[in-house]
Amino acid sequence: MDGNGRWAKERGLPRSAGHQAGADTAQDIVTSCRKLNISVLTLYAFSMENWTRPKEEVQFLFDLLIRFLRREQKKLVDNSIRLNVIGDWQKFSFPVRKAIGQTLERTAHCDQMTLNLALNYSGREEILKACRSLAASGVPEEEITEEAFRGHLYTAGQPDPDLIIRTSGELRLSNYLIFQAAYSEFYFTKTLWPDFSEQELHAALEDYRQRSRRFGGIE
Ligand code: FPP
Repeated sequence: MDGNGRWAKERGLPRSAGHQAGADTAQDIVTSCRKLNISVLTLYAFSMENWTRPKEEVQFLFDLLIRFLRREQKKLVDNSIRLNVIGDWQKFSFPVRKAIGQTLERTAHCDQMTLNLALNYSGREEILKACRSLAASGVPEEEITEEAFRGHLYTAGQPDPDLIIRTSGELRLSNYLIFQAAYSEFYFTKTLWPDFSEQELHAALEDYRQRSRRFGGIE
């Protein structure tokens, strides 16, 4: 959800106003994806690297996350959207863990769509964590297959992302789903996240529809 800060700056507003507008966009895009019958949507909300931001900004983001979860809970249940968190969220403060835990619990039975929130997420850490957990399970070397490995990722049981949308003109992966993105298609847009709309989501999906996915093979 890149470009919140720049969106605010362009308007002479504090960065927090950009994040607030970004959270409103996230709300709209969740609804749009559900309408489109998309089975998994992942929002990259907070990377492990984001801890280096000023303390006040980090605090604002977590307060915003709590408000987002409280506000969205009923809508998630009504639309049968299950929340899943990818990333190490056990390190968060009690109020944040409580809001996450409650939403996870209340949406656990929902089965029409999964909303992954990447929180305190790092693709490299995810891979290392999967290695540690495989090693700890005592699995014999010859049984360390791709399938077994996938079972130890945060996204276990989920399909790889078909499409990754990167907003605000950034042209890099930023440690995002680096294992799962091996054959994902990318859509790059200069649009800043708060301005990203249902209309542009449709444009991205139409663009994706034109791609020929060969997964290393030939047509
Ligand atoms: C990137 O924009 C945005 C973030 C690091 C935070 C996104 C998180 C939220 C909107 C919090 C609400 C949570 C949910 C799940 C909706 P940036 O600050 O890097 O923008 P810039 O590159 O223009 O400075």
